Amino acid sequence: MDSIIVEGNGPLSGQIPISGAKNTCLKLMTAALLSDEPLTLTNVPRLSDIRTLSTLLESHGCEVALLQGGRVMVLSAREITNRRADYEIVRKLRASFNVLGPLLAREGEAIVSLPGGCAIGARKVDLHIMALEKLGATITLEEGYVHATAPNGLTGAVIEFPFVSVGATENALTAATLAKGTTVIRNAAREPDTVDLAKCLVEMGAKISGAGTSEITIEGVDRLHAATHQVIPDRIEMGTFMIAPAICGGEVELLGGRRDLLEAFCEKLEAAGIDITETEAGLKVARRNGAVKAVDVTTAPFPGFPTDLQAQFMALMCTAEGTSTLEETIFENRFMHAPELIRMGARIDVHGGTATVTGVKGLTGAPVMATDLRASVSLILAGLAAEGETTVARVYHLDRGYERIEEKLSAVGAKVSRVKADG
Ligand code: EPU
Repeated sequence: MDSIIVEGNGPLSGQIPISGAKNTCLKLMTAALLSDEPLTLTNVPRLSDIRTLSTLLESHGCEVALLQGGRVMVLSAREITNRRADYEIVRKLRASFNVLGPLLAREGEAIVSLPGGCAIGARKVDLHIMALEKLGATITLEEGYVHATAPNGLTGAVIEFPFVSVGATENALTAATLAKGTTVIRNAAREPDTVDLAKCLVEMGAKISGAGTSEITIEGVDRLHAATHQVIPDRIEMGTFMIAPAICGGEVELLGGRRDLLEAFCEKLEAAGIDITETEAGLKVARRNGAVKAVDVTTAPFPGFPTDLQAQFMALMCTAEGTSTLEETIFENRFMHAPELIRMGARIDVHGGTATVTGVKGLTGAPVMATDLRASVSLILAGLAAEGETTVARVYHLDRGYERIEEKLSAVGAKVSRVKADG
C-alpha cells in the first residue's frame, strides 16, 4: 500500500485548482439509472470512489464512457439488465446504496446490499427505508440485502425525516421523480450536493421545487430524458486546501473555490485569524499575522460547519494559541485522527463527541496511520506544520476522495511525495 511522506516546511504560495465534488458526482451518477437516455456529466473528479460506483452501475447494465481524460462521463442506462447491487461493491462505498431509489422507481424492484458499518459510525439506513416505504414500496431484509418492490410503481407521499440525512434525502428525491403524484420531503438535507442533484434531475425533466430549503416538493413525471450537467466544485477539498496555508503560513488561491459553499467554515477560519478574499478565479486564503487563534466548532448539517472538515480543522487547532472545543454531532466515532495527531505531539482530550484541543508550540513528524478519508488528510495537514518527516500509511483512503493530492500540494511549495508500495 502506498504511503505519503510530508516534510514540514515554511509558507506556501501559488494556486490550487479545485476538482468536481466527489459526493455530488456519486449521487449524480446514480440518477443516470432513472432514464433510458444518456446523462453526461462534466467536471468529473478522477477518484477511486468514482471508479467503484462506475463498476456498480455497469453491473446494472449502464454503459459508462469516459471522455477528455476522465473529466467527462457519459452514462447510458438504455436497459436495466440487473436489479441487484452486490455486497462486494456496496461494502466498499456507502454511496452505492443510493442506487436503491432510482432502480426501484424505474424497475419496480431493487435488491441492494446493506452497506454495513463504517469506521466513522454505525451509519444505518433506516431513514432510506422509511422514505421508500412511504412512497409505497414493500421492503424486506433478506440475507444482508434490502429487497424493495413496487410492482405498480411508487406513489407520492409526505416524507418527514426525524433528523437530516443527506443520503436518505437523495434516495427519496430520486425515487420520487418517477412516482405518481406529489411528494413532499420535510426536514430535507440542504447540502449543496443535494441541491446540485435536484438541479440535474430538473435538467432531466423532473419537476422539483424547494431544493436548498428543508422542504422539497416533487411532482412525479412519467419519464426522464437526456441531459448534460456540470458537477459543482468540491467544497470539502476546497476547505481542506484552505487549511494548508492557515497551518503553515503563506497565501494560496483556490481556483474555482466558492465561499457560498462553505460560509460557516470560512467564518471559523476568519475567527482564527486567517484572511479569505473572493477573487475572480476563486478564493484567496492567507495567513499573514502571527499565530492562529483557538476557535470552538460544532459540526452540523448544511449550512452548519461540515463534519467532513472537522478533522482538518482539528489539525489547525493543534498549533493554535489557546484551547478549543470541537464537538462532533453527526457521526459517533469521528475522532480517530486524534490519537494519530497526539503521536505528533498534539494535546487532545476526547470525551464522547467532544474533543478539547490545547494548542502546542510545534508538532513533530511521526509515522501515522490513515483511518478514513478525512482523518488521513488531517494528518497530511499536520505534517505540513510539523518539524521533520511524517509518513502517512494506508493512503488508499485518500485516493478515494482527493485527486492527485501530492501534486496539488507540491505545486504551492509543500514537500509532499508518494512512496509506491512496490518501490
Ligand atoms: N443516519 C441514520 N439512518 C439513516 C441514515 C443516516 O441513522 O438511514 C445517520 C448517520 O448514521 C449519521 C447521520 O444520520 O449519524 C447523518 O448521516 P447522512 O445520512 O447525512 O450521511 P451520508 O449520506 O451517509 C454523506 C456524505 C458523508 C458526509 C455526510 C454528512 C456521501 C457519499 N457521503 O453521508 O461524506 O460526512 O453526508 O454530511 O455523500 C466523506 O466524504 O468523507 C463522507 C463521509
